[in-house]
Amino acid sequence: MQAIDSNSPFANAVLQWFAHSGRHHLPWQENPTPYRVWVSEIMLQQTQVSTVIPYFLNFMRHYPDVHRLAAAPLDEVLHLWTGLGYYARARNLQRCAGLVSTTMTGAFPRSVDALCELPGIGRSTAGAILSLGAGIRAPILDGNVKRVLCRYHAIPGWPDLPSVQKQLWVIAEDATPTHEFAAYTQAMMDLGATVCTRSKPTCLLCPLQDGCKARKADAVSEYPHRKPAKAIPTRHAHLLMCRTASGKVLLERRPESGIWGGLWSFPEFTDMMQVEEFCHSRLSAGHQAPACWPAVKHTFSHFHLQITPVCVDAATQPDAVMEPQRWLWYPLDESVAVGLAAPVKELLRRLRQN
Ligand code: ADE
Ligand code: SF4
Repeated sequence: MQAIDSNSPFANAVLQWFAHSGRHHLPWQENPTPYRVWVSEIMLQQTQVSTVIPYFLNFMRHYPDVHRLAAAPLDEVLHLWTGLGYYARARNLQRCAGLVSTTMTGAFPRSVDALCELPGIGRSTAGAILSLGAGIRAPILDGNVKRVLCRYHAIPGWPDLPSVQKQLWVIAEDATPTHEFAAYTQAMMDLGATVCTRSKPTCLLCPLQDGCKARKADAVSEYPHRKPAKAIPTRHAHLLMCRTASGKVLLERRPESGIWGGLWSFPEFTDMMQVEEFCHSRLSAGHQAPACWPAVKHTFSHFHLQITPVCVDAATQPDAVMEPQRWLWYPLDESVAVGLAAPVKELLRRLRQN
């Protein structure tokens, strides 16, 4: 108890919670060594605990130490990794095992900086290896811990911004106790994974609820702040909605490559000049002047598309434009089933009401 009493109230609350609600029987918690903790941490980087457990056990049966892993054929390592995904992790794992096995005679480095020199090991993984596997105090800052700290301290800004990251490392370092740092490290991961979850955290069960700034401000869902949206460019397009008195509208099949590949859409033009030129040359005489409708915005992953819908009433249904592979007089009652881009569907709906 002497040891616990000398830790901060924050660490004590976390450690007390861990004693009754933390995870104590994960396979890498048994006989923890830098090697075992390292393998588990790499496996856990993008994969959840329940998936990792059987892979970890199987891996340890095949490669009980770093020399055995280093000596294994890469194909075998990749085979044992099959299903975990992100195979660069497995390649790095074996490269790292080779370095530790040969140049370090099988002993993992005992400092964060030296561990970070090894392939696939970042600062947080290094901290976990030292504190969980080597009895050396070092903070961690994985996704779970970042979330807990951002909420507890109501830290503004996206946590992966270098300035925020720097601030969080200072906080993580200060919060890590001098005693029981292994339990504390595991506890923070467990707290983030089971209580302070990304969505709907169960603050009522949280050992940190009294001091948590996000909770006090009733703003838990605002932390951590989301990644700022990238500025993406806006492109413009005119879509020509050419309709006939008989209730049909002209669609054009999009090229296979590019947006809406292979789907049917209204013919697209860059500006009104092109629209007028198309109407003039392809529609029979007597069509009305094309009229612009209010613009419609559609967002793709890497650009916004500002669509100006242009409506024109054709006097007759011109067949001059008809190559059936590419052009379609589409009945507005949707009695023909074709693949349509989402904004086109919406514009068709508006056309029916107009
Ligand atoms: N995720 C990363 N490290 C972990 C650990 N030691 N236990 C549970 N989940 C984890
Ligand atoms: Fe997370 Fe809620 Fe605990 Fe704050 S009180 S650390 S938001 S679980």
